[in-house]
Amino acid sequence: MSWMKRTFCSSIGLKIIMAATGLGLFFFLIGHLSGNLLTFAGADAFNEYAARLKSLGPLLWVARIGLLVIFVAHVLTAILLTRKNRAARPEAYVFSSTIQASYASRTMVMTGMITLGFILYHLAHFTLHWVDSANASHMDFSGRHDAFKMLVLGFQNPVTSGIYIISMFILGTHLSHGLSSLFQSLGINHPNITPTVKKVAPLVAWAVVAGFISIPVSVLIGVIAL
Ligand code: HEM
Repeated sequence: MSWMKRTFCSSIGLKIIMAATGLGLFFFLIGHLSGNLLTFAGADAFNEYAARLKSLGPLLWVARIGLLVIFVAHVLTAILLTRKNRAARPEAYVFSSTIQASYASRTMVMTGMITLGFILYHLAHFTLHWVDSANASHMDFSGRHDAFKMLVLGFQNPVTSGIYIISMFILGTHLSHGLSSLFQSLGINHPNITPTVKKVAPLVAWAVVAGFISIPVSVLIGVIAL
C-alpha cells in the first residue's frame, strides 16, 4: 500500500490522477454530446437513442457508477492539490509565473465548483424531474419515454435555457484550461507537442461547448420544435 500513500501524498501523483480522471470526464462529455445532438435528427431518433441507453439495464448502472467514481476522484484530488498548493505558497508573490499559476488554479476551482452545481441542477432537471416535473411522464407514439418532448419543453423556458447556456460557458473555461494543461500533468512535455496542444486544446473545448449550447439555443429559436 506504500505506493498508494506515495501517489496520494505527492503533488505529481495527484496531478496525474487529476489529469487522467479529467480526460475520462472529457470522453464522457464527447459521448453525451454525440447522443444529445440527435435532437437535431428529430423526436424518433432521440427517443430511440434514449430507450437503447435505458435498455442496457445493469450495464448502464456499471457505466454510471464508473462515471461517479471518476468524478469523485477528480473532485477529491482537486481538493487535496489545492490544499497542498496553499500550504506551499510563499508569503508574497515574487515571480509573475507564480501569480499566473495561482490565477489559473483559482479559476479552475471556481469554474469546477460552478460546474458541480450545474451537474446537480441538471440531474434534478432531466434525471430526477424535480424541475419541470410535469414534463417527465410523456410517452411517445411507440410507448417510449418521450425524452425529446421533455427536453424541448424544458428548454422552451428561457430561464432554464439561460442557466444551461451560462453554465456551458463556465464549463468551457474549465475545459479549455484543463485540456491545455492535461498533457503536461501526464508528463508529456515536448517542444514539438506542447505549443500545439496549447493552441488546439481551447479550440476543442469551445467546439464541445458550442455543440451543447446549440441545443437550448435551437429550441429557443424554434429550429428544434415539437
Ligand atoms: C445542452 C446540454 C445538455 C443536454 C441537452 C443534456 C441532456 C441530458 C439528458 C436528456 C440526460 C438523461 C436523463 C435521464 O434520462 O436520466 C442527461 C444526463 C446526464 N447529463 Fe446531460 N445534457 C447536457 C449537458 C451536460 C453537461 C455539460 C454535463 C456535464 C458537465 C452533463 C452531465 C450529465 C450527467 C452526469 C447525466 C447523468 C447520466 C446518467 O444518469 O446516466 N450533461 N443529460
